[in-house]
Formats: sequence, structure tokens, C-alpha cells
Amino acid sequence: MPTSCSSRTSTALSPDLSVRPASSPCQTEGEVVAIAQAGAGIFWLELALSLLPMSPMAGQFAMVGFKDTQDPLLNRPLSIASFEAGSTGCRVGFLVAIRGKGTRRLAEARQGHKLRVIIPMGQSFLRHVGPDQRRIIAVAGGVGVAPMVLLGRQIKQVSPEADFLLLYGAKTKAELAKRHLGLTDGLYVATEDGSEGFKGRVTELVEAERALLLQAGGSAKVFACGPLPMLYALNKLAERHRFDLVVSFEGPMGCGMGFCLGCAMENREGMYVKLCQKGPVMDAKEVDWERLTRSDELRGAGCDFKPA
Ligand SMILES: Cc1cc2nc3c(=O)[nH]c(=O)nc-3n(C[C@H](O)[C@H](O)[C@H](O)COP(=O)(O)OP(=O)(O)OC[C@H]3O[C@@H](n4cnc5c(N)ncnc54)[C@H](O)[C@@H]3O)c2cc1C
Ligand code: FES
Repeated sequence: MPTSCSSRTSTALSPDLSVRPASSPCQTEGEVVAIAQAGAGIFWLELALSLLPMSPMAGQFAMVGFKDTQDPLLNRPLSIASFEAGSTGCRVGFLVAIRGKGTRRLAEARQGHKLRVIIPMGQSFLRHVGPDQRRIIAVAGGVGVAPMVLLGRQIKQVSPEADFLLLYGAKTKAELAKRHLGLTDGLYVATEDGSEGFKGRVTELVEAERALLLQAGGSAKVFACGPLPMLYALNKLAERHRFDLVVSFEGPMGCGMGFCLGCAMENREGMYVKLCQKGPVMDAKEVDWERLTRSDELRGAGCDFKPA
């Protein structure tokens, strides 16, 4: 059993997600206990942690880096897809898409390999869920599905009446990581080439299935994570069909802790916010979408934007 992180009381064994304060992160070591292909260019990474952090909430992330090399030097932000704590220790799972040097090196890690982990970080989707919320629709593009895996597991603890639907898109069937979703009901799949489910982008699936947005007494809440063009298109739909949208950004981060300003983004009020602290989960109404997609200086929220 790992010791708990610092002197804080850990709620990992019996989390009460509805009343949890924002958690402060814990720096620890993660030993690779499982690593497996989850889809084309995507792998599942599971780490056993040597310290017990406060149990993460869906939408929060970890900074993961290498202990045995300074190349790459910086930790990489990864959404927490699973977290289990028990008498024999705790495990955290990630779905990782191979993009560049850092994620490629992570993919090469083997069982027993030790990684640097800072966890949990950032704001959660659960802050945006009321106890009377009846329907949550998660919209995920590619590896943006990772935080939705944890969301699907935790939503009932916060909003027992809510039903949870996941609209999940990828380019092809091979790039879907369905095995790791832990979902049997409420899953709607879109592939751009039509090799599985709806043929088209996940935003087109949202449009096609917009009856799902209605619930008794109001509209459902939509949570989304994926590439910036997807989030941008979804925000357009939210404005058109008047549904509440909460997004999570997956852009690059330098430190993840508010020091480097690498993730700074200007919000609708013209204030700079650090996505690693104020986000990555944000109400879409707070985002200045036009400025975000115009400015190449604001890489923190999504790097090279090309309209979908
Ligand atoms: C909150 C969050 C959650 C994420 N969750 C996932 C996930 O679950 N699964 C997944 O596959 N991906 C996720 N990502 C994206 C993932 O972090 C990147 O794909 C990964 O960092 C790329 O690293 P790389 O070395 O492979 O790529 P490269 O492109 O080789 O490296 C990116 C490098 O550029 C640096 N960099 C670039 N822009 C900046 C900047 N503005 N400030 C500071 N440094 C910069 C980075 O720190 C890093 O060193 C998430 C990103 C965020 C922000
Ligand atoms: S990533 Fe360094 S300030 Fe946000």
C-alpha cells in the first residue's frame, strides 16, 4: 500500500466527488504495470503509483515524464482515464496517442519502467454537473475520449439520475479505442471513412442525433474533448441549438503548474488564463473562439488550427 501524498487526508478509498475541494497535485513515481496497443497509433498505459494522491476527478490530468533521461526534458500532460485505489495500492490509466518524441518514448516503455508523475492537476468536468442533471452527453474526438472514460465511471456519484451518452469519433475503425471505454450502453460511434458507425465527423453525428440533446425539463449538458477544430465546430452547434457546452483543451503544456505561461489563453473578457490551472476544462462561453482560432501565438489551446 503506498503512503498518501504529503500530509493531506486522501479520499482515494472513499471519494465523495460532489463535495471535493480543488485538489493540490502530488509528485510521485509511477511504475509501468501494463502497456498495450489500444488502437492504431494509440496505446493504453497503466501505472502503479508509489504515493497515494487524492483521487482524481474526470477531466483532470497528470504530467508524466521520464526519470532516466533528460530527453525529453519536459513532462507531458495526459488525461486520467482510470484510477483505482485499494488495499494493495493505486493504479492510474492513460490512453495515449503517439504524436512526437515524448509520446513515442512512452510507447516504448516496458513493465517495470519508472516514470515521473504529478497528479491530479487542473479542473474537472464534474464541477459543471448539478445533482439534478438528467443527461450528460460526452463528445470525444480521437484520444479526447480518455477523460470521458473516467467521466462515465464517476458521473453517477455526482448525479445519480443522469444518463451518460458518449458520441465518439475517429478517422477509421482502427483508431477507435473501444475496448478501454468500459461502456456497453449509450455509445454512438462515428468514423470519417464509415468503417464503423455513422459515416462522418463526430460533430456531424451530434447534428444528426440532436434529438439526444433534449431531456425532460431542458437540454442536456454536453462535455467535449478533442482537437481544436472539433471543439470549434461543436461550439457553433451549441450556439445554433442552444445547448450548454463544456470543453477540455488538449494543447501543449510546458510545466502544467502555472509557472511557464506556455498554456496562456485569452478569454472572452480579454483576460489571460492559464489553461493548466483554470482549465483544461472550461465553459465554452468563456472562450474567445474567434481569437483562439486566429492567433498562432495562443498555442496553449490547440496549436495549428485548420477549420474542419
Ligand atoms: C490537459 C491535457 C490532456 C491531454 N490528454 C491527453 C491524453 O489523454 N492522451 C494523449 O494522447 N494526449 C493527451 N494530450 C496531448 C499530449 O499532451 C500531447 O500529444 C503530447 O504532449 C505531445 O508530446 P510529444 O512529445 O509526443 O509531441 P511533440 O510535439 O514532440 O512535443 C511537444 C513538445 O512541445 C512543447 N511545447 C509545445 N508548445 C508549448 C507551449 N506552448 N508551452 C510549452 N511547451 C510547449 C511540449 O512541452 C513538448 O515538449 C493532452 C494534453 C493536455 C493539455
Ligand atoms: S503549462 Fe506552464 S503555466 Fe500552464
